[in-house]
Amino acid sequence: MSSSDVDVKIQMAEKTSDAEKMYTYKGVLYPRLMCPEENLKAVENMEAREDDVMLVAYPKCGFNWMVGVLRKIMVEAGGQKSESKTPPLIEFFGPDNLKAVNEAPSPRFLGTHLHPDNIPASFYEKKTKMLVIFRNPKDTLVSYYHFYNNNPVLPSGQSFDSYFSQFMSGDVGWGSYFDHAVGWDKKMDDPNVMIVTYEDLKQNLTEGVRQISTFFGFNLTEDQIQQISGQSTFNAMKQSSADTHGHLGNIFFRKGVVGDWKNNFTPEQSREMDEVFNKRLAGTRLGAKLNYQQHCQ
Ligand code: A3P
Repeated sequence: MSSSDVDVKIQMAEKTSDAEKMYTYKGVLYPRLMCPEENLKAVENMEAREDDVMLVAYPKCGFNWMVGVLRKIMVEAGGQKSESKTPPLIEFFGPDNLKAVNEAPSPRFLGTHLHPDNIPASFYEKKTKMLVIFRNPKDTLVSYYHFYNNNPVLPSGQSFDSYFSQFMSGDVGWGSYFDHAVGWDKKMDDPNVMIVTYEDLKQNLTEGVRQISTFFGFNLTEDQIQQISGQSTFNAMKQSSADTHGHLGNIFFRKGVVGDWKNNFTPEQSREMDEVFNKRLAGTRLGAKLNYQQHCQ
């Protein structure tokens, strides 16, 4: 899928009712225009490679941030000539584009928002290295709320309160944040999985870039690491977003801060999320990594 394909989908979205924009596949909601059923079916049999560079994130956890970082790392390490502008999400490709991806030279850069149990089995069989970026659930919800209301392929016009309820029951694109987090917590011992958090990267992006390039086996000099992190700050990426993301640039690069939930959650909503976090993630290793006390209370 090229960036002009994305523009076509946006034009189609203008003629699609909100009710038609989402559909359920195997119990999970997806945006129909971006990943229709034929795409999800085609992806199930996708052949992974050991040297694929795979990026995974629940929506709004910083996927596009890491797309920018990884593309820059791959250019600097000599694997790619220039940064591609094509969204790397495997569930957006569709059968035809997947054929081209099957023939693309290594190393391929791929990404997905799919739940870990729905990532094609081949990625686990081939021991493909996967970078997973997570973000605290309160900021993720706020970011997703704004995305729903500004991205034409998603239903819009909902109040924050009604979106809050939908997010909490997992009735949003790609399903429940908490189901994803619990799924990744089970994979924390997998040496081919590296989990980073949005908040840690905000605090020390240079260190993040260093660790990510080492994980994928790309050797970069200290100068290259500094250069990539300088070009991957929120302001730098927002500035070039019209070029990298077209019309949706300002929507993908909205505010880029930790703690915006405080401007949106009522005390009652905050308590409700705390309860779910305590039930599902407190005491887990991913729960500890998310540093909920610091970022969400
Ligand atoms: P906000 O909506 O809170 O601003 P995704 O790419 O997974 O859709 O995530 C989007 C979120 O990541 C948005 O959050 C966006 O602003 C933020 N983001 C994008 N690039 C960033 C960067 N370089 N630094 C920090 N945050 C960034």
